[in-house]
Amino acid sequence: MPAMFSRLAVAAAVALIGNTALADPKNPPTECTLATAPFQIRVAYAGDKGMAISWNTKTRLANPTVHFGKNQNLNRDAQSDISTTYPTSSTYNNHVVLTNLEADTTYYYRPDCATQTYTFTASRKAGDDTPFSFAMIGDMGTFGPDGLSTTVGKGGAHPLNPGDLTTIQSLAALKSKYDFIWHIGDIAYADAWLKEEKAGYVKPLNLSDQGAEYDKILNEFYDQVEELSSTKPYMVGPGNHEANCDNGSDLSICLPGQLNFTGYRHHWNMPAASSGGLENFWYSFDHGMVHFVMFNTETDFPNAPDEPGGSGAENAGPFAPSGAQLAWLKKDLAAVDRKKTPWVVAAGHRPWYVSNKVCLECQAAFEPILIANGVDLVLHGHQHFYERHAAIANFTTQEITADPIAPWYIVNGAAGHYDGLDAPATPYVKTSREVIVAYGWSLFTVHNHTHLSTSFISSSNNTVLDTATLIKSRRCDDTPGKGN
Ligand SMILES: *[C@@H]1O[C@H](CO)[C@@H](O)[C@H](O)[C@H]1NC(C)=O
Ligand SMILES: *[C@@H]1O[C@H](CO)[C@@H](O)[C@H](O)[C@H]1NC(C)=O
Ligand SMILES: *[C@@H]1O[C@H](CO)[C@@H](O)[C@H](O)[C@H]1NC(C)=O
Ligand SMILES: *[C@@H]1O[C@H](CO)[C@@H](O)[C@H](O)[C@H]1NC(C)=O
Ligand SMILES: *[C@@H]1O[C@H](CO)[C@@H](O)[C@H](O)[C@H]1NC(C)=O
Ligand SMILES: *[C@@H]1O[C@H](CO)[C@@H](O)[C@H](O)[C@H]1NC(C)=O
Repeated sequence: MPAMFSRLAVAAAVALIGNTALADPKNPPTECTLATAPFQIRVAYAGDKGMAISWNTKTRLANPTVHFGKNQNLNRDAQSDISTTYPTSSTYNNHVVLTNLEADTTYYYRPDCATQTYTFTASRKAGDDTPFSFAMIGDMGTFGPDGLSTTVGKGGAHPLNPGDLTTIQSLAALKSKYDFIWHIGDIAYADAWLKEEKAGYVKPLNLSDQGAEYDKILNEFYDQVEELSSTKPYMVGPGNHEANCDNGSDLSICLPGQLNFTGYRHHWNMPAASSGGLENFWYSFDHGMVHFVMFNTETDFPNAPDEPGGSGAENAGPFAPSGAQLAWLKKDLAAVDRKKTPWVVAAGHRPWYVSNKVCLECQAAFEPILIANGVDLVLHGHQHFYERHAAIANFTTQEITADPIAPWYIVNGAAGHYDGLDAPATPYVKTSREVIVAYGWSLFTVHNHTHLSTSFISSSNNTVLDTATLIKSRRCDDTPGKGN
């Protein structure tokens, strides 16, 4: 701590000198103190040529600023006035978008007052036919005493074995293998603080300090994931554990900052602006040969489970006028240029094909749209195991090597979660092709216009536990080719 303090003191002195030299009365440089020091740094794709940089500070920043460039000189600056907080939060969320980046190019960047420089690689151009991979996780939460560890709470199963790598450690070890991470809901499990306390898993309940418990877990998550999120675009989608503070059916103890996706809305900056989507709830982006679409299985469609009166009892949302999400999804998918992005991959938190509780409301709302628009692959989390299915349309299966017309489904909610893994219901649903109950993440590789494969990787030891390849018969020579 003293060492950090003195580095910050030096940085503060430099900033003050800068103040006179570069006088800009509107946006004076931030004075670097412990309160303005960035932590929990996260990056996310922001449209074709953009990257959103987000970080937290202990105080509000007047003008969050990022220095960046193609080399360590960081010759460009970007700035915003977005520095937000909410009740019970001990931090401010700062968001800046870097624009006019060159595709697939590595940039160096440093949020103002940070003591180190980070790197990211900008998104691949739509239509770039170079093979690439991406990582997908669901339902992770923190690791350690307030999350998944070598013990689980009452009723939980599958504690970590001593020496097991966590999913964060596994993703960090294999960072060179993928371009970005897609965490499709159930991000931090801060909402579980009361359940964890009741299960005797974390320290005894202190009812006069509810806010601090939630905030503590949230901060642990963003701290732990920073080694990934500061260098790999970390894309997220909404899950039920972002919606509220979880006390079973009685939500009265939850405080305003813990309700209605508040922390989730503040922390992230997904590419809704560039895709006509909504905040961190629904959005799309292109990357190489793929159009990626995040949809929201929690709110904003008929009988959405997390809305007031919905089956999830989360009392959250809606966030847009009735019908807005589904209208957006149809429009977004209809506009895909399949010559540039022959693959369309969609993700939503709750599954409707899974050997466990299904979301029939979600199926009713989304499946017809996904089928009608030829979506190739649908990813879900929510159930805490891995289940690879066939390609499916309304329960009718097609095999993935037989040029299916229907979307291929994979459920993977096995990244972590304080209470361990779930037991799939047996016999497995007829659409199921492989089930694995182990902590893990999915690595997808897009080889070319016809082959897209997946590997399920055991977080514990980085070994591949399952592989499968989707094969489409579409022609590869009817497209403009790399970078066009
Ligand atoms: C409970 O939290 C309150 C508010 O932060 C604090 O004043 C009190 O000391 C805490 N009690 C215990 C037993 O930790
Ligand atoms: C949480 O929910 C249970 C019932 O589900 C209820 O008995 C309890 O009072 C609620 N609040 C707290 C603080 O535990
Ligand atoms: C959640 O927040 C949205 C946006 O502010 C608001 O429209 C909606 O009514 C809120 N839902 C609940 C249940 O408070
Ligand atoms: C799905 O199949 C069932 C019966 O197999 C049928 O009643 C229903 O209309 C079908 N739904 C769609 C969207 O095709
Ligand atoms: C596409 O990739 C697959 C898997 O690497 C390979 O077997 C196939 O030959 C490739 N197709 C073309 C046209 O290159
Ligand atoms: C790696 O972990 C998986 C899942 O826990 C386990 O089944 C497998 O045996 C392990 N492999 C090795 C080589 O330890």
